[in-house]
Amino acid sequence: MEDYESDGGRMLFAGMYVSDIAREFGTPVYVTDEQRLRKNYRDVYGAFSKEMDTRIHYACKANSNLAVLRILQQEGSGIDAVSIGEVLTCLKAGFTADRIMYTGVNVSDEELRAVSDLGVMINIDSESELERLALIGPGSQISVRINPDVGSGHSDKVITGKKGTKFGIPADRAINVYSRAKDLGFDIRGIHAHIGSGGQSVEPFVDEAEVLANITNSLGEIGIELEFIDIGGGIGVPYKMNEEPMDLNEMAIEVTDMIKMETDVKTIVLEPGRYIVADTTLLLTKCVDVKDLGTKKYVGVDAGMNTLVRPAMYDSYHHIAIADKFGKVCTAKYDVVGPICESGDYLAHERVLPDPQEGDILAVYDAGAYGFSMSSNYNSRPLCREVLVNGGKAELIREAETVEDLWRLQKVPARLLR
Ligand code: LLP
Repeated sequence: MEDYESDGGRMLFAGMYVSDIAREFGTPVYVTDEQRLRKNYRDVYGAFSKEMDTRIHYACKANSNLAVLRILQQEGSGIDAVSIGEVLTCLKAGFTADRIMYTGVNVSDEELRAVSDLGVMINIDSESELERLALIGPGSQISVRINPDVGSGHSDKVITGKKGTKFGIPADRAINVYSRAKDLGFDIRGIHAHIGSGGQSVEPFVDEAEVLANITNSLGEIGIELEFIDIGGGIGVPYKMNEEPMDLNEMAIEVTDMIKMETDVKTIVLEPGRYIVADTTLLLTKCVDVKDLGTKKYVGVDAGMNTLVRPAMYDSYHHIAIADKFGKVCTAKYDVVGPICESGDYLAHERVLPDPQEGDILAVYDAGAYGFSMSSNYNSRPLCREVLVNGGKAELIREAETVEDLWRLQKVPARLLR
C-alpha cells in the first residue's frame, strides 16, 4: 500500500491539507478522491478488457453515495445491486435499467416484482426464486447464481462461495435449474458466482472460472448458449503499509484464459466493489480525549463503530495517521476508540502514534468500501457527512443527519402523551 504525501508534516489528500478539510466540514467526515475513483475503475476495466470483452458491474453495496455512483456511471460502469433500494438509488444516479443486474438473496415476491417491473436482469439465487419469478415476471432476463464450492475472503463472515453458505445453487444442480428455466421460457443470459470478499490471491478466481466454464459447456450440449460468465466481485486491496496489491493483470490473464480455452463465451462480467472504492476515501475523526490507564493508553475519537464498523465486526485493519504529525516519531502504542458504549467499539488496537493530543485530526485509511454504507445510528448518533475532493476543491456530497432526523419516522401513540 502507498502512503500519502505530506508538506512539512502536514498530510495531503488529493492536493488538499487533510486538517483543512476536517476544519471546513467538521468531523467525523468521509472524504473521497474523485480522480482515484476514476483511476480504479479504469485500472480494473483496462486489465480485463485487454484480454476479452468486459463488463464491470460495480457492487454498489460498498459505497452507494449518489455522487460516487454518478462518477462511475460516467466512466461506463454497470451495477451489481442486491436490493430494490440499491436498484432505485442507481436509477436515480443516472444508470439505465439495462446496466443494472440484481443479485438478491432470500428475495421476497414484492421485491422480485418491483425489480422485474423495472426491467432489471435478475441473478437467480434459488429454485424457489426461479419458480416465483416465472409467475411474477415471465420471460425475464436472467442469470443463475452458482455455488462453486470455492471460497476466498478476508474473514469467514464474507466467504460466500463455499458449500454450506446460504448463497446460490450447488454446481451439481445447475443443469437441472437451467433446463427448468428454459422450459419456463426465461431469456437466459449468463452464469454467475461470487466466491467472497477481500481475497488476495488469483488462484481461487481461476478455480471458480473453471467451475463456471464447465457448467457453461454442459449447457451448450443441451442447447443453452450463454452470453456472459460473471465471476462476481472479491478483488482484495492492501490495507497494511507493507502489503502488495494483487496483480490484476495476472488475474485478468489467468481467468480469461480459462474462459477462452474452455468455452465460446465472449464476455466476462466482474462485480468489484472494494477494489473500486476502498482506497478512494479517508475517514477523518478528531481526537477528543486521551487516557493513560497505566496498562493501556487510549486515544478517544469522535468516530466509532457507528461510523466505521469493520474493525469491530471483522477485526479489520485500517491504517491510521495523525494528519498534522505526518511522519513524526511515534511515541507509544494506543488503542483508538470511539464514543459508543461497548468495549468492542474500536478503530485500531495497539497502534503506534506520534503523541496524540486532544484536537488532533486522525485519518483512517481505505475507508471507501463498506465504510459509510455500513454505518448506523447506534447510540442515537446521526450519520456523518461525506465530501468529494477534485482539482483542489472539496464539495459536500452528503449532509450530516441531525438528531431530529432520528425522530422523523417514529410515532408515540397519543394515549402515552396524556
Ligand atoms: N458481488 C456480490 C454478489 C457480492 O455479494 C459482493 C459482496 C460483491 C460482488 C462485491 O465484493 P467486493 O468486490 O467488494 O469484495 N462488508 C464486508 C464485505 C462484504 C461483501 C459482501 N458481498 C467488508 O466490509 O469487508
